[in-house]
Amino acid sequence: MRTASSASEAMNDTAIDEVIWNDWHPVAALDALDGLGTSSGVSGGSNAVTSTRLLGVDIGIAAPSQAQSQKRFRVWRLDDHAPCHAQARYGVLWVCPGEPHRDILAIPEADEPDRRLLHAGAFRVHVSGLRAIENFLDMGHFPFVHTGYLGVEPYTEVAPYRIERDEVNDELYAHDCRFYQPRAAMTAGAALDVRYVYRVARPFSAILYKTCPPQPERFDVIALFVQPVDEEWCVAHTVMSYLDDASSDDALRGFQQTIFAQDIKILVNQVPKRLPLGTGEEHPVRADAMSVAYRRWLTAQQVTYGTTHGR
Ligand SMILES: [Fe+2]
Repeated sequence: MRTASSASEAMNDTAIDEVIWNDWHPVAALDALDGLGTSSGVSGGSNAVTSTRLLGVDIGIAAPSQAQSQKRFRVWRLDDHAPCHAQARYGVLWVCPGEPHRDILAIPEADEPDRRLLHAGAFRVHVSGLRAIENFLDMGHFPFVHTGYLGVEPYTEVAPYRIERDEVNDELYAHDCRFYQPRAAMTAGAALDVRYVYRVARPFSAILYKTCPPQPERFDVIALFVQPVDEEWCVAHTVMSYLDDASSDDALRGFQQTIFAQDIKILVNQVPKRLPLGTGEEHPVRADAMSVAYRRWLTAQQVTYGTTHGR
């Protein structure tokens, strides 16, 4: 069997950007993998097995059985059986097909004991994962796409916000975002002027920190972890770290799924499917400052996978 490092060398044949190939990507909800082990009635040392696709490579996933004390997942390429690095965190299984140059992104809030972590759904979408992240960062579509939830006419203006690039961690932030929202969350009893901070931690991972209606001094955390299936398909995993202890998991999931179903209608109609990086290729308006910053940040990291500069 080939080692993970020889698989990494083989990557050069396919010319996927190293920054992408050697990073961690979400491939499954842990909830779904738990169900896999139970429903197939696996016991003893055997594993339940499923498969998915990451960066154009089919991979197998063996979930640890209930009987195994060490909850370790095994992941491998289906084409040449080379093993991949795998770790469970934030309710999802993360895989690095190359050699990881850094750890999975850090979300310190997820460790706070009074929060609930919830995988709110995995949606397969026919669009580049970078387009899904860019849409997640865009407040301009709220009144038109999420009418009655995250926005409503005539409150359509995106107020100026502040973009910050964290040079140490190579991350991107949008601070001081505000938006008038009729129904910002399950816990929002009335319309709110909601405060947001957006954080882009990795090319395919972004986090939204949002006013928490029951505790306005703290933030609900909504993460969008995107699985780049290939350059024009992705699976969007929404993971919430919530302070809400009143709503059921099903209610919270349902709310988030309603919002994302509205986004899917926009995402599948994106032309081209891949994200253009050149500022001349699409015409941004001022409200798109974060989108422009995201595209520049991707360019600076030499990301081409999933862009119109890809293969
Ligand atoms: Fe949206």
